[in-house]
Amino acid sequence: MDHFHFKRGRLYAEDVNLSDVAAKVGTPFYVYSHATLARHIQAMESAFNGYPHVVCYALKANSNGAVLRLLAQAGMGADIVSGGELFRARKAGIPGQKIVYAGVGKTESEIRDALRARILMFNVESTEELREIDRVAGLMARRAPIALRVNPDIDAGTHPYITTGMKKYKFGMPVEEALEGYRLARRLRNVDVVGVHKHIGSQLTEMKPFLESAERLVNFVGRIRAEGMDIRYLDMGGGLGIRYDTETPPEPSEWLRNLIPVVRSTGCTLVIEPGRSIVGNAGMLVTRVLYRKRNDLKNFIIVDAGMNDLIRPSLYNAYHRIEPLVRKKRAIIRADIVGPICESGDFFAHDRDLPEVRRGDLLGVRSAGAYGFTMASNYNSRPRVAEVLVRGDRFHVVRRRETYSDLMAKEQVPSFLKPSRKRAAK
Ligand SMILES: Cc1ncc(COP(=O)(O)O)c(C=O)c1O
Repeated sequence: MDHFHFKRGRLYAEDVNLSDVAAKVGTPFYVYSHATLARHIQAMESAFNGYPHVVCYALKANSNGAVLRLLAQAGMGADIVSGGELFRARKAGIPGQKIVYAGVGKTESEIRDALRARILMFNVESTEELREIDRVAGLMARRAPIALRVNPDIDAGTHPYITTGMKKYKFGMPVEEALEGYRLARRLRNVDVVGVHKHIGSQLTEMKPFLESAERLVNFVGRIRAEGMDIRYLDMGGGLGIRYDTETPPEPSEWLRNLIPVVRSTGCTLVIEPGRSIVGNAGMLVTRVLYRKRNDLKNFIIVDAGMNDLIRPSLYNAYHRIEPLVRKKRAIIRADIVGPICESGDFFAHDRDLPEVRRGDLLGVRSAGAYGFTMASNYNSRPRVAEVLVRGDRFHVVRRRETYSDLMAKEQVPSFLKPSRKRAAK
């Protein structure tokens, strides 16, 4: 059941009329559905069917503190890529033992923080990083649990910007180099080899690349074990796609039903890092129509949200369903739906058919719960929008809308630019 649904022609999130939220909170805003999040977590958890696992939710998809707390309380771990994400995960109550840490550019202070938090493992992306983790762990008299991120050189068949498991991209290490990396790790004094990691890309809609890369990884585990190393965790990354338009990605149940038999022979605990599949369809962006205009080529609908609020269409040419929050009998028009930012790339849809909306109408940009707010910026000095969590018939502002003062809160004016009394007197 979709918890974003129409009742008497009005779009609701659970039992909350989203037009009422707009009236109280203003626009634009992101809204997340508690019931949808809970259902997605449950679908993922139950799909393991008893197989030993850790679900490390990828914070980069949506790291709102309330959303994270909800996920933490449901038992989710975290996949992090920065010290900031570690901070958020810990604040939400996610135990270190359920945190995995990837990313090609971990700094010394980030490594220190992760060691202090006693995370489950570092997913290491280069041998230089491996040596650095060993060095820092030595200084702290700790042992660092590690997996190496293997780049299985598989085309995930998704947008190049969210494909990661091919040699031409910066992530992980090719298989042969990773083997050398594991040999090095065994010689280092302050690291413990505990796992193997891969993540080949995001928004995958087919099983095939998941299975091919999983088979390569399992094969690789055999080779490392043959050298006497103990691999306990197989981290298969995230990447499970969702439906934005007409895609038919595997359900979590199908994904894991196919993946587990490949992994089972290793006896390893299966780690997965889903982001989008947990939060993507649990959120939407609500925006208001400011103006309409047309030239002899096109209709434009100008809304109050921009690419700084949701960059996916501009960055990946991504499709989001867009519909009025109130259904009215109106003619269908074809239009570009664009934001107020001074960039031609500031659009949500090109040549989209939709009912002829008017100034003041509200539009819902669907499937915006993942890589929405987390990728937002203040470009054009636009305060970032509010985030709202709906649960049943109530809604809660879980991040207030930024103010103009917020925009400048961290800036400092050097004294030589401050108006002096002398200058002011002139
Ligand atoms: C290492 C890693 N794990 C997990 C994810 C989450 O991917 P998704 O949101 O597609 O599940 C990403 C996303 O880019 C990632 O880089």
